[in-house]
Amino acid sequence: MEKKATLTLSDGRSFELPTLPGTVGPEVVDIRSLYGKAGVFTYDPGFMSTASCNSTITYIDGDAGVLMYRGYPIEELAVHCDFLEVCYLLLNGELPNVKEKEKFVSTVTRHTMVHDQLNRFFTGFRRDAHPMATMVGVVGALSAFYHDSLDINDAEHRRVAAFRLIAKMPTIVAMAYKYSIGQPFIYPRNDLSYTANFMRMMFAVPAEEYKVNEVLVRALDRIFILHADHEQNASTSTVRLSGSSGANPFACIAAGIACLWGPAHGGANEACLQMLEEIGDVTKVGDFIKRVKDKQSGVRLMGFGHRVYKNYDPRAKLMRETCREVLGELGLENDRLFKVALALEKIALEDDYFISHKLYPNVDFYSGIVQRALGIPTALFTCIFSLARTVGWIAQWQEMIADPEYKIGRPRQLYRGATRRAVKPMAQR
Ligand code: CMC
Repeated sequence: MEKKATLTLSDGRSFELPTLPGTVGPEVVDIRSLYGKAGVFTYDPGFMSTASCNSTITYIDGDAGVLMYRGYPIEELAVHCDFLEVCYLLLNGELPNVKEKEKFVSTVTRHTMVHDQLNRFFTGFRRDAHPMATMVGVVGALSAFYHDSLDINDAEHRRVAAFRLIAKMPTIVAMAYKYSIGQPFIYPRNDLSYTANFMRMMFAVPAEEYKVNEVLVRALDRIFILHADHEQNASTSTVRLSGSSGANPFACIAAGIACLWGPAHGGANEACLQMLEEIGDVTKVGDFIKRVKDKQSGVRLMGFGHRVYKNYDPRAKLMRETCREVLGELGLENDRLFKVALALEKIALEDDYFISHKLYPNVDFYSGIVQRALGIPTALFTCIFSLARTVGWIAQWQEMIADPEYKIGRPRQLYRGATRRAVKPMAQR
C-alpha cells in the first residue's frame, strides 16, 4: 500500500503527500506537488532535511558511521580494490572483472596527456597563485580545448568527457604544482599505475630517475579511494546544480572545484594541518581544547565534526591506519604533528563538549599528516581532494543527466525584503 504523510497548515487545510522509500535509510516525503496544491513552500536552508535528488551511488549512515559506494562498505573497498577499480564501480555500478578492468585502465591511461597548448595556459598564472585558483581556471578551460565531448545529450560525448576528466586531473594537479615551484612539467608515463604516475609527475625531475615507492603509492591511492564520492555534499550538489542547466561537464567540474576550496569542505585538511602546526607541541593541546570550547574565541577544532557523521567518520579510521604505515615506512614514527593529532583526538573523545555535540574526527584529521609525509605541500591538499572527487562528481552528473526526472535545479525562497514601494526622484531621497 502506498504510504502517505499528512500536512496540516495553520489555516486548518490538510494535504496528503506521498512518501518514497529508499533501499536503506530514511523514507522521504515527496513534496513536489505541495506548492501546486497548497500554495506554500518548505523552508530548509543548508538542506538539513531535504533530499535534492534520488541516487544509487553512495550511501552514508552518519549515526552509525557507515559509508558505502554502490553497496560496498568503504572499509572493504579500501583494502581489496585500487582507485581505478573504485572509479569503475562508481561510474558503472559494479566492480570490474579482469577484462573490464584492463580495458578501463587502458582507456584512462591513454587520456592522461593534455593538449600541448594547455602548457602555455598555465604560464598566464602568477607562480605564487594558490594552486586551487589555477585548478578552477585550467579545468574550466578544458571545454575550450576538447570541443568534441561537450554535447551532454550524447552518451558517447559524456563517456569521453568522463574519461578525459579522470585521466587528466593528475596531470593538471602535478602541472599546477610544478609551475608553482618553477620546475619543468613532467609528462605522464603509461607503464605506471594511475597513482604511481601521479607521484612521478609530482616529484620527478628530468635530471634523474624517479623511484616509485609502492608503500607511499598505496597510501595515496587509499586517499583517492576515501575521497572518491560522498553523496550530496556541497561540491557534488554544486556540480549537479551547474549541470542541471545543461552546462558542459568541464565547466561543471570547475564549479565543483571552486566549491570544494572552502575551509568548511575540502579546505579543511589544509586548515587542520595549519592548526596542528600552530599548536606545535603536545603540551599545548589542553590549552587549545579550552579555546575551542570557548564560544567567544571562534576557534574550531579542524578535522572534527561533520554535517552527516555524528559518529567516528569511517574514513578517518582508515586514514589513521595509513598515517601510521606511511610514517613507519619513512622512519617518522615520532612525527611531532602526528603526536599532537593523537593527543588532540584522545582528549576530544573523552571531553563532554565533543561528546555532547557528537563531534568526532573526520577524514581530514589525518589525511593532512599523510600528505605532508608524502612530500605534498599544504597548499596542494585540496587539489588532491579534487583529483579524487572528480570521479564522484562525474558519476553523479552522469546519473542526473540520465534520470528521467531530471530538471533544472531552481530552489525557492522565503522573501523577507521590502514590500512594493515607488522609486522617489533623486531630489526627494
Ligand atoms: N569544533 C568545535 N565545535 C564545533 C565543531 C568543531 N570542529 N564543529 C561543530 N561544532 C559545534 C558548533 O559550534 C555548534 O555548537 P552549538 O550547537 O553549541 O552552537 C555545533 O557543533 C553544530 O555545529 P554546526 O556548525 O551547526 O554544524 P554543521 O553540521 O553545520 O557543520 C562542519 C559541520 C563540518 C562544517 C563543522 O563541524 C566544522 O566546521 N568542522 C571543522 C571543519 C572540518 O573539519 N570540515 C571538514 C568536513 S569533512 C570533509 C568533507 O566531507 O568535506
